[in-house]
Amino acid sequence: MILRPVSEDEIPLARPVLGEAEEERVLEVLRSGRLSLGPALGEFERAFAQRVGIAHASAVSSGTAALHLALRAVGVKDGDEVITTPLSFVASANVAVYERARPVFADIDPVTLNLDPAAAADAVTDRTTALLPVHLFGYPADVAAFEKLGPPIVEDACEAVGAVDADGIPVGARGHPAAFAFYANKQMTTGEGGMVTTANAEIKERVDSERNQGRAPDMDWLDHDRLGFNYRLSDLACALGLAQLEHLDDMLAGRARVAASYADALTGIEGLSLPCPETGRVRRGWFVYVVQLPHGFDRDTVVRAMHERGIPTKPYFPAVHLMSFYRERFGHREGEFPVCEDVAARSIALPFFPEMTDGQIERVAETLRDVLGR
Ligand SMILES: Cc1ncc(COP(=O)(O)O)c(C=O)c1O
Repeated sequence: MILRPVSEDEIPLARPVLGEAEEERVLEVLRSGRLSLGPALGEFERAFAQRVGIAHASAVSSGTAALHLALRAVGVKDGDEVITTPLSFVASANVAVYERARPVFADIDPVTLNLDPAAAADAVTDRTTALLPVHLFGYPADVAAFEKLGPPIVEDACEAVGAVDADGIPVGARGHPAAFAFYANKQMTTGEGGMVTTANAEIKERVDSERNQGRAPDMDWLDHDRLGFNYRLSDLACALGLAQLEHLDDMLAGRARVAASYADALTGIEGLSLPCPETGRVRRGWFVYVVQLPHGFDRDTVVRAMHERGIPTKPYFPAVHLMSFYRERFGHREGEFPVCEDVAARSIALPFFPEMTDGQIERVAETLRDVLGR
């Protein structure tokens, strides 16, 4: 543990697990002097691809960058439509707008909270060039159902490292380009960072080029044969990622333990909805612990009351289509996606990190019970 330990009284919303392995790996890169496009980059990509069980992985500077390049790689362009969920982090819709495509929202499944395949099917038009399901809160989306709809799929796996789908396939391993994210609150972190996984060598080649200003692998440093970006991930970040991968299973197990303790501690609060259980072969890659408040409570008042009692919580997530940019640009209004809007208005994320103690979990649960008066 190289992070200052938190006391039992202090409950952060999220917290990474950083140990000596991280320190060693980062120091190794510092000592080498190869801070970018050095050996740690390829090493991290190969280790991540192996972990997911897929042929290729390309490391980039964020989950958003990963989604953006994955969407470009399946051919999304000006005037196209990309079907996605309105219950997500805003980046999953923004990346379509980056390419002047239109994000077309479809409602969510009320149990899994993921994009509903039937609603997505209804939204398909002849301009649909991609489906962008999100594995929300680490619960695998029904990608097998989206595969039946036809258009190419880009998976937003930014919250889903470690998840396994209903067919027993790890998220990211079905072969579609999938975007992962390594911000500091994620299951594993590189500080900031992301990864595109794919079964397709041409997509890997395109992503590698476009993250590096459109440079082809056999070209000189200042030679570019396509439009690109600077979406590179530094070797320092890759070193962190390599160390995190070494104990990813422990961190995931820690999150699963905390989730199970929360489920015990929160049972019996009338009207409170907990994350849906795993069914069949599904395994959630636990990312956050989000509950929906009973109907009739004002979410922001509850967040404030929890804060006053020393417990940080967060509205998580607000509906994307009702954000001011999406209202103004695309004319969205309340009532379009009723399931999403109901869930979004009542959702809060509770403190959640692998080293959370049972005492801390109990305190959060008791405080919530107290605030709700139940
Ligand atoms: C569902 C989802 N998509 C995309 C992103 C974007 O990742 P990043 O913040 O690394 O750009 C996130 C990150 O929080 C996310 O949760």
